[in-house]
Amino acid sequence: MDPVRNPYTPNAGARPPVLQGRDDLLEDFRLLVQRVADGRSDKGYVVTGLRGVGKTVLLGEFETIARDLGAVVVTYEVPKAPGSLTRRFPALARKALLEISPSARWGERARRAAAVIRGFKARFDPEGGWSIEYDVSDAMSVEGVADSGDFVADLADLVEALGEAARAEHRVVVFLIDEIQHLDSTELSALVIAKHRVNQRVLPVVFAGAGLPQLPAFTAEAQTYAERMFRWPQIGRLDDRAARLALLEPAARLGVGFEEAALAFITAYTEGYPYFLQEYGRAVWDAAEASPISLRDAEDTRTTVEAVLDQDFFSVRVAGLPDRELGYLRALASLGPGEHTPASVAAAMNRSGSASVGSATARLVSRGLIYSTRRGYVAFTVPQFDRYVRRTFG
Ligand SMILES: Nc1ncnc2c1ncn2[C@@H]1O[C@H](COP(=O)(O)OP(=O)(O)O)[C@@H](O)[C@H]1O
Ligand SMILES: [Mg+2]
Repeated sequence: MDPVRNPYTPNAGARPPVLQGRDDLLEDFRLLVQRVADGRSDKGYVVTGLRGVGKTVLLGEFETIARDLGAVVVTYEVPKAPGSLTRRFPALARKALLEISPSARWGERARRAAAVIRGFKARFDPEGGWSIEYDVSDAMSVEGVADSGDFVADLADLVEALGEAARAEHRVVVFLIDEIQHLDSTELSALVIAKHRVNQRVLPVVFAGAGLPQLPAFTAEAQTYAERMFRWPQIGRLDDRAARLALLEPAARLGVGFEEAALAFITAYTEGYPYFLQEYGRAVWDAAEASPISLRDAEDTRTTVEAVLDQDFFSVRVAGLPDRELGYLRALASLGPGEHTPASVAAAMNRSGSASVGSATARLVSRGLIYSTRRGYVAFTVPQFDRYVRRTFG
């Protein structure tokens, strides 16, 4: 088939031609923004899931929904570097404030928020290259607000000031934060405490985000709030029907069909994982001579797909890994898919007890390769990673 017209999107964050199987989450989020716009409070919304299941794409849809509802949207992808949210937050708040209303039209609430942001920035990002300028004669004293030097307390004050400014302009501010697993426990706790403040004051501020399904490391104080004030829906593979439609519909729009057996073969191989479906769709489209795409086409493409996945998706994650950690991954992979105890990983490495692999476990979690599923268990963050490790490292 003509590669120029290939409709599949095997790229991180790339919106697929048809977004399958996520209607419930989109509806949840729409309702959340509408409720907050209507002066009610609601829980924050953090989508969790393995790599390549479509979290970033979903946040992109959330952004569209929020903007269509007239909200001010602030997006942020947390990089791996520690403390990044702490430094970046004042810039995000400033952007939100300028979008709530241009500085020439700022009323009392907005000017107060600007002063709070300015003070916050002076404490947490003194080196950053911008400042908030407005008529100083209008400056209000905001002593005692967001100036404790404690990020957790000050962030709540800042979000409150921003929320008041938004309410004065009848706007909703939506924060969309991707890769939240990179937040340190102070930053995560600060967001949770800020959300608590939003609820108490019924402010028009929405917190939503996405991240790996690892148990977030909250401070003890934030832990109970986190459970009460956020929903943590988990997404994963598409069910059989959605997976088939994710392959079928983009092709059908271009007048190309699939044999039933081809669909069955590809959905079985990919197990309905969105990124794998896109990669397979892309490859089989390019390889097929004619419509409908046949079982033969699907079978013949398998090695190509596997090579592409190894190259683009799997191998980058083990590049430069020390032997000790690679040994851990091999042991975990040898136990098959799903979750396992570090003690059984240790046993597979001819060691005894989880303590003997404790530091490797911690390093692999911080690299984002494995996560702790619940007390005492670990699993790969990447679907089918066990298969990859076995075929590559034996
Ligand atoms: N609901 C879906 N249906 C079909 N393909 C999807 C869906 N969601 C995501 N994808 C595809 O899956 C891949 C991974 O999406 P992405 O949002 O980057 O995942 P994550 O952020 O969870 O790692 C992309 O190629 C994207 O086009
Ligand atoms: Mg992502």
